[in-house]
Amino acid sequence: MPARVGREPRHSAPSGGSDRREPGGCMKRDAFDTWSLGELDAVESALDAWVPADAPSGLGDAMRYAVLDGGKRLRPLLVLAAAEAVHGEREAALRAASAVELIHAYSLVHDDLPCMDNDVLRRGKPTVHVRFGVAQAMLAGDAMQALAFEVLTPESSVVAPALQARLCGLLARAAGDAGMAGGQAIDLASVGLRLDERALCDMHRRKTGALLKASVLMGAACGTSSPAQWQALSAYGEAVGLAFQVVDDILDVTQASATLGKTAGKDLDHNKPTYVSVLGLDAARHRADELRRAARAALGASGLGNVRSLLVLADRVVDRES
Ligand code: IPE
Ligand code: IPE
Ligand code: MG
Ligand code: MG
Ligand code: MG
Repeated sequence: MPARVGREPRHSAPSGGSDRREPGGCMKRDAFDTWSLGELDAVESALDAWVPADAPSGLGDAMRYAVLDGGKRLRPLLVLAAAEAVHGEREAALRAASAVELIHAYSLVHDDLPCMDNDVLRRGKPTVHVRFGVAQAMLAGDAMQALAFEVLTPESSVVAPALQARLCGLLARAAGDAGMAGGQAIDLASVGLRLDERALCDMHRRKTGALLKASVLMGAACGTSSPAQWQALSAYGEAVGLAFQVVDDILDVTQASATLGKTAGKDLDHNKPTYVSVLGLDAARHRADELRRAARAALGASGLGNVRSLLVLADRVVDRES
C-alpha cells in the first residue's frame, strides 16, 4: 500500500481566471465537469493503488472487480467538494474519499447477495457473487470494509492522529448499525409491509443517507469550519443523502437496466416499500426537488465561500438518469 497519495490528476483543472461563471455567479457546468474529471481520476488512481491484486486465493481479483472501473463515485466527489469548501487537507481528503467508496462498494456486494436483493447485474457487469461465488463475495466485502479503515490510518506523519480518529468515527457510525447496516436490516424486514412516509424516511436515511452525509462531513473534517458551517454542511448532507435514495427508487421504475447498469424494476418485483410505492411517482419527484432546495438553502446560509461543486452535486443527485 502506498504511504501517501496526492498524484496530479491527468486532466488538471484550468488554472486561475478560467472559472467561467454564468451571469448571476453560478459556475458553468463545464467547469464542474473539468473539476470532477480530475477528481475522479485521482480517486481511481488511489483506489487502484490500494486495492490489492495479490490478496490470497483470488480474493484480490474479487475486490478489484467490485471496486475499480465502475460506479458514479458520487460519495468521493462529495468528500472532495466538501473538503474544497473548507480548504481541507488534500492527503486526508483523498484517503477519506477512497475509504467511503470502499465501504459503499462493499455494501453493494453484500446488497446483491442471494440472501439480500439477489441481483445479478451491478455497474453494468455480473455481480461479484455471480462472477466469483457467494463465499468469495462475502469475503471481498469484509476485506473492503477493513481496507477502508486501513486507508484512513496511515503513519501519523501522513495524517494527524486526531484527524484519523475523527474520520474513522464518522465512517464507522455511518456504516454500522445506526447507519447503513441498520438501514439494510430494516429494508429486509420491510419486504411486503406498507410503511408510512416517516418509517420509509428513517430506513432511507440509514441505509443510504448516512454514508452520503458522512461523505460531506468527512470532507469537512479535513479543513476548518465554524460550528454553524459544520451544521450547514451536515444539513446539506442530510438532504442530499435522502434525495439520493428517493431518486434511486424513482429510477428503479423509470429507467431501463441498460441505463442503470443494474436490474430495473426489482423493487416492485421484490415487494419493497419505496418512495414510489408509498407516495407515487409524482410525489416522489416533488419530494426529491424539495430536498434539493433544502440542500441548496443550507449551503446558501453557510457563509462558506467555495460551495460551487457541492451545489452542482446536489443537482446531479436529483437530475441523474442512472
Ligand atoms: C446504489 O448507489 C446503491 C444505493 C445506495 C442506492 P449508487 O447509485 O451510487 O451506485 P454506484 O456507485 O454509482 O454504482
Ligand atoms: C441499497 O439500496 C443501499 C445499500 C446500502 C447498498 P438498494 O437495494 O435500493 O440499492 P440498489 O438499487 O440495489 O443499487
Ligand atoms: Mg437493497
Ligand atoms: Mg439492491
Ligand atoms: Mg434501489
